[in-house]
Amino acid sequence: MSGATPVSLERQGDVGVITVNYPPVNALGPGVAEGIKDRLARANIDPAIKAIVLIGAGRSFIAGADIRGFGTNRQRLPLGQRVYDTLDASSKPVIAAIHGYALGGGLEIALACHYRMALPSAKVGLPEVLIGILPGGGGTQRLPRLIGAKAALEMIVTGRHVPATEAKRLGIIDELLPETADLLESAIAFAMRIVDVRPLPRVRNRSVRLEDRGIFEAMRKSIARRARNQKAPYACIGAVEAACALPFDEGCQCEANLFKELEDSPEARALRYAFFIEREVARLPDIPANTPVRDFSNAAVVGAGTMGGGIAMSFADFGLPVKIIDATPEALERGMQRIRDNYATSVRRGSLSEDQMQRRLARIEPVAGYEDIADCDLVIEAVFEEMDVKKPVFAKLDEVMKPGALLFSNTSALDIDQLAEMTRRPKDVAGTHFFSPANVMKLLEVVRSKHSSPETLATAMQMGRRIGKLSAMAGNTDGFVANRSRAPFNTEMVILLEEGCLPEQVDKVMVDFGYPMGPFAVGDLAGLDIGYASRKRRAAENPNFRKQPIADRLVEMGRHGQKTGAGWYRYEKGDRTPHPDPEVAAIIKEVATGLGIAQRTFTDEAVLRRLLFSSVNEACKILEEGKAYRPGDVDVMWLHGFGFPRYRGGLFFWADTIGVREVYNQIAAWHQQYGDRWAPSRLLRDLAESGTSFREARAAPFAA
Ligand code: 3HC
Repeated sequence: MSGATPVSLERQGDVGVITVNYPPVNALGPGVAEGIKDRLARANIDPAIKAIVLIGAGRSFIAGADIRGFGTNRQRLPLGQRVYDTLDASSKPVIAAIHGYALGGGLEIALACHYRMALPSAKVGLPEVLIGILPGGGGTQRLPRLIGAKAALEMIVTGRHVPATEAKRLGIIDELLPETADLLESAIAFAMRIVDVRPLPRVRNRSVRLEDRGIFEAMRKSIARRARNQKAPYACIGAVEAACALPFDEGCQCEANLFKELEDSPEARALRYAFFIEREVARLPDIPANTPVRDFSNAAVVGAGTMGGGIAMSFADFGLPVKIIDATPEALERGMQRIRDNYATSVRRGSLSEDQMQRRLARIEPVAGYEDIADCDLVIEAVFEEMDVKKPVFAKLDEVMKPGALLFSNTSALDIDQLAEMTRRPKDVAGTHFFSPANVMKLLEVVRSKHSSPETLATAMQMGRRIGKLSAMAGNTDGFVANRSRAPFNTEMVILLEEGCLPEQVDKVMVDFGYPMGPFAVGDLAGLDIGYASRKRRAAENPNFRKQPIADRLVEMGRHGQKTGAGWYRYEKGDRTPHPDPEVAAIIKEVATGLGIAQRTFTDEAVLRRLLFSSVNEACKILEEGKAYRPGDVDVMWLHGFGFPRYRGGLFFWADTIGVREVYNQIAAWHQQYGDRWAPSRLLRDLAESGTSFREARAAPFAA
């Protein structure tokens, strides 16, 4: 990552230019903060230098502290001696010249400078809360002094990246340059204009504008749901509150105390882990990074249902033109209307402008038939989830699509090899499993058939990134990685009912754990008929398939979820609130009695472990069969496909907080009690015996 000297000083006329050069994003890695301090000291004693410009080389100003160093025994300088303090105290004016990102400690450095200028494409922010900490370089004290408590509080608690244009309006940036300006040249010219201005404008000397004393309580209330079980968002609020109540140095001390408490907290460790696995997932160990990627500038979607429409929107949202077809003009129009309605809802909610909606809609072109999509660079099949429906679609696509076009299937479980074999270009075929709603959910599971070429897979991964997704690779196994690892959870949750639990207890446990919704309420939202069809298929294929009589009964009674006003819960007309339903409790009892299963009570912890351990065991089997590259890939899928609470890191990260040995012992005990479905995976047993953590588990070589 680092060059030999990450920070340099050179003189240009009367201006000393300090350049940070620590690729790729100028994080404050080893030697960077020290380098800035050292060069600043030299510039201050050099009589030929009258003002100082601080700038980043490469693609960014400074992206913040080096996250890899957190939670290690890193050395922390006392307040007063840190890089922020020395910049602030410089007797010569220091100008931060910002391009790319000024985030976290990077923005804090800029705030400690006397002036800030930026290119319009730059982004600034204090995203520490997103990794479970709070700004620890004086950001919670300087930002409110600069832009007022309310705006600072919002920025610090959300951690959002603020575009430079907005930062200028807020008062963070003193001068916004035209995008084409030479940043360094402009900064030097600016420095010469202010070279004699005294006193130097030091943010620390300003007083905080507190618009309304109620903002802190209001913020605590507004984040209560999304920040449950987390400390960092509250620490952020507390620190800004301190900025309003205390002198600067005391406020910094308060910030430092809070930072120390949080740096190695379980939530911070989990969030750091999430940050790194989200980047690691892009690396495919057996496909070289320089594998050529096929060019694509447009796409086609076959099937204008809910998934197909959402996929088309994903392309349109990221500027790619997309054509869409369906079997009949009516189905196509229904699909287009759903797309128009979805965008109109976003406009009504204020998350999209009318103009943006029109531009996105203009990129989605409904066309009559296969011949109209023949010249597209890639096509995603999103027809009904049945092999017999999908196979002829692939044969047809093979017939019409231009040579070189890639053929992807949006299936959540079906065998990609069989689809590839319907074509004369099997190497150009892969799975691209989107999650619902496809235009919202971040995960794209790229499924590798044994026929897929490295080029096809690299292109599918890149396609996901181009449309704002996190692409993760899965092997071709029933349910792939995400749904396969989740399936035992889904089975256990209904078996728990047979044993005496109620849907509302299970949902409460999972919401308390951190999921936005409980799994039964999610089932009602998605529609219970979907799982029903795939259970029937699996039961037909596998005589040992564990049936779900309660779930089947509900569907057969017409309780398909919210859309029919009843599912696991009952719903009032026009209201999505789930109400526990005595009728469901009665069905549960009746089915359980019929099966001869005794009813009992469960602690919340027992419910949680039953559900998640079953998936941990299956995920171990997936690794042991080489269907996923790394434990982190599974965790990314759980975070972004299933809404697993990010501050718990992911399925495996969480399981490590319990301990491999304990997980194994429990699973082995349930194996004795419940039989084969709990047979511990070989990998799990090996990990337990060798005392290796889940995160360190090594998957078998990837097997498509
Ligand atoms: N520390 C260590 N490594 C970092 C890093 C950081 N702060 N920021 C980025 N990196 C690494 C990434 O891990 C990645 O490494 P890899 O190539 O080995 O996978 C590489 O830099 C490039 O990062 P991205 O792939 O994320 O590049 P993008 O261009 O997509 O995004 C970014 C750039 C927006 C800067 C994004 O990397 C990011 O959000 N970084 C984190 C920013 C952050 O959280 N800063 C605050 C840190 S905490 C802090 O400053 C505490 C202070 O208050 C004291």
